[in-house]
Amino acid sequence: PLVPMTEFLPRAKREGFAVGQFNMNNLEFTQAIIQAAKEERSPLIFGASEGAIKYMGLKNVVALARVAAEEAGVPVALHLDHGSSFEMVMKCIQAGFSSVMFDGSHYPLEENIRLTKEVVKAAHAVGVSVEGELGTIGGVEDDLSVDEEDAQLANPDDAIRFWEETKVDAMAIAVGTAHGMYKGEPKIRFDIIEKVSKNIEAPIVLHGGSGVPDESIRKAISLGVGKINVNTENQVACTNTIREILNAKPDLIDPRKYLGPARDAMVEVVRSKIRLFGSAGKA
Ligand code: G3H
Ligand code: ZN
Repeated sequence: PLVPMTEFLPRAKREGFAVGQFNMNNLEFTQAIIQAAKEERSPLIFGASEGAIKYMGLKNVVALARVAAEEAGVPVALHLDHGSSFEMVMKCIQAGFSSVMFDGSHYPLEENIRLTKEVVKAAHAVGVSVEGELGTIGGVEDDLSVDEEDAQLANPDDAIRFWEETKVDAMAIAVGTAHGMYKGEPKIRFDIIEKVSKNIEAPIVLHGGSGVPDESIRKAISLGVGKINVNTENQVACTNTIREILNAKPDLIDPRKYLGPARDAMVEVVRSKIRLFGSAGKA
């Protein structure tokens, strides 16, 4: 069965590793992600954004995640990524999600706290874990788009207060990473991670995990990051593989002949992240 993130995140923070959230976009993403987690004996978080849910269909998302979890025999959470409303959160919980993110980061602090508290109350009542967010993460993901100039780092004192009042199970804070590909190297504010993590029980969540150098990831984990979201690197591996094959073989028509190799490429992306995050062998 699908489990809440509280099954493995407290241990991750205690022992200094992070669990990856890898986004589902279709069947091949789902298969690649679970294969890597199974082979590496790692706990896993499937992320499903509202855009991906619209694309795949809510019931398909839940069914695929359930089958994957059953077959892999490792703890798997199915997590709503960047949930935008209480209604959407409830719809996903009713459909079978074991974890949700409520992203109220575009609201003023008081409003974000108030709305997140409502989500926590409803979700915790049925054993579903919750991630909250403070500060805005730059870049583009699905329908979410934030100009770099508008991206706002989280204020550590606000983040600590946010956690004390909401008691979310995982705390996403904007610390300089962005969704999508980076133009240069991200400048991560490790001091913010450290200060917030020391003062709250929940692990910090790092969004925009694609393209962040390995040393920065290791340092972030050592300071209290316990969940890292990765999507774009899988999308790049998938699409580049398909593009290469189709360019080389213009007569190819069997989708399995390019989707299969794309899936293999994603297995290796997820495997290397699981090893980097230190969650291999922790299932
Ligand atoms: O919520 C999902 C992520 O933060 C993914 O970010 O596409 O830059 O890896 P990414
Ligand atoms: Zn994100």
